[in-house]
Amino acid sequence: MASPRREPGPIPPARLPGGVWAFPARDGLPSAPPGATHFPTLPDSGPTPMIRIETETANDVLAREALLDRAMGPARRLKPSERLREGRLPAEGLALVARDGDRLVGSVRLWNVSAGGVPALLLGPLATDPAVQGRGVGSGLMQVALNRAELAGHRAVILVGDPEYYARFGFAGELTCGLVMPGPVDRRRFLAVDFTGRTLAGAGGQVVATGAPERDLARIAA
Ligand SMILES: CC(C)(COP(=O)(O)OP(=O)(O)OC[C@H]1O[C@@H](n2cnc3c(N)ncnc32)[C@H](O)[C@@H]1OP(=O)(O)O)[C@@H](O)C(=O)NCCC(=O)NCCS
Repeated sequence: MASPRREPGPIPPARLPGGVWAFPARDGLPSAPPGATHFPTLPDSGPTPMIRIETETANDVLAREALLDRAMGPARRLKPSERLREGRLPAEGLALVARDGDRLVGSVRLWNVSAGGVPALLLGPLATDPAVQGRGVGSGLMQVALNRAELAGHRAVILVGDPEYYARFGFAGELTCGLVMPGPVDRRRFLAVDFTGRTLAGAGGQVVATGAPERDLARIAA
């Protein structure tokens, strides 16, 4: 069954490569114009006027890992999803960070997997700095990541997370009922979004990592 598409809502979906993001009006702040690549932070968030969503660079790795430890604790490394990420590179163009000035305040990455034989992406971890939570940064990262994924030709995204949060981006549990993660997961939290409405229909079996091995990074850089 197709999961509900992401609601177009009042916000034009970000459609251009490069992290285009239009931000909803919130707490009296104006929406960014369609096509804007930045959105305003709340007035009390310090001297830097904008939070930007950008592609992660090698210089971000330490700050990203520290952010994930702060937001999720060390137990994050024990999750079954981690088995699909360890030793792999994220999907091309799908490691994103949010920056407030020079400070990294959010992170999301997507990973190539086979979902019972069907090419798909695994999303996660998603985290934002506690200092900026509730300001739309998590939603911004999700919107940009999903739009980039769809633009890049990916057809479905799976994740393990709270349905109460991810439903707003179109994620639902029905599409994963035939899929098996590499470890025990709460089925209620095993979710997917299907951009085509038919990619995951009938998909069944193990979710396995298909991302490029990390050692390829050294080869690419050489
Ligand atoms: C989940 C997380 C990424 C959201 O980031 P954020 O920048 O606060 O997200 P947004 O500002 O876009 O959205 C905030 C909204 O989501 C809600 N929300 C946040 N986490 C939620 C959760 N686990 N379940 C349900 N709703 C949640 C907030 O209550 C808030 O609701 P509101 O808009 O009605 O006020 C952030 O809280 C975080 O890093 N948490 C710790 C790491 C984590 O648990 N990540 C996995 C999420 S399952």
